[in-house]
Amino acid sequence: MIKNNESKDIFVNARSHNDWLNKDVPDQLLYELYDLMKWGPTSANCSPARIIFIKSKEAKKRLSNFLIESNLEKTMAAPVNAIIAYDKEFYEFIPKLFPHNPEAKEWFSWSEEFAETTAFRNSSLQGAYLMVVARALGLDCGPMSGFNNELVDEQFFSGTNIKSNFLCCLGYGDPSKIFMRLPRFEFDEVCKII
Ligand SMILES: Cc1cc2nc3c(=O)[nH]c(=O)nc-3n(C[C@H](O)[C@H](O)[C@H](O)COP(=O)(O)O)c2cc1C
Repeated sequence: MIKNNESKDIFVNARSHNDWLNKDVPDQLLYELYDLMKWGPTSANCSPARIIFIKSKEAKKRLSNFLIESNLEKTMAAPVNAIIAYDKEFYEFIPKLFPHNPEAKEWFSWSEEFAETTAFRNSSLQGAYLMVVARALGLDCGPMSGFNNELVDEQFFSGTNIKSNFLCCLGYGDPSKIFMRLPRFEFDEVCKII
């Protein structure tokens, strides 16, 4: 059940976490997380994200070899490391996901480059949905792109069309270890109403 759905808690009070309390994240909560985030919109409902939730020591060790040094300790300390990835051939599932117009498959499959751009765009959105839902469920997040994507792909997605996008640690963060809050742009610096 969603603990709170206040946007202030999800965007203002929630922070990116760097250390983690020794508190398990039950598998059931990960199912609940996915069952909510899956409803977030994607192009033609293409849903290209593929996610591995790493919990075991063995799989963490496999991941550890490919992280930049400054991300190693915090990643290993987190109860869950989610690899948010995307299927480059997501369009094969269009007949299931967009059944009223299965021909939509060709909107994406005509160009490998366009398909990958679409997969990357929509899996990034789905990764953001994951973080928003995780926070709404009372979890903390530690998103990370400081790792070697090619080596992670070889290790976890060998022989598939799946490519890693970014990682997100999940768990219950240690609030004493968060970094200084960084500035954000004001509306007038980056937005226009025309
Ligand atoms: C896609 C993405 C990649 C990131 N990569 C890293 C990373 O490799 N290492 C790290 O320590 N923080 C990483 N961060 C965390 C950001 O630095 C952090 O979210 C940002 O400074 C805002 O912090 P705040 O949420 O506490 O305000 C990443 C965040 C995102 C969304």
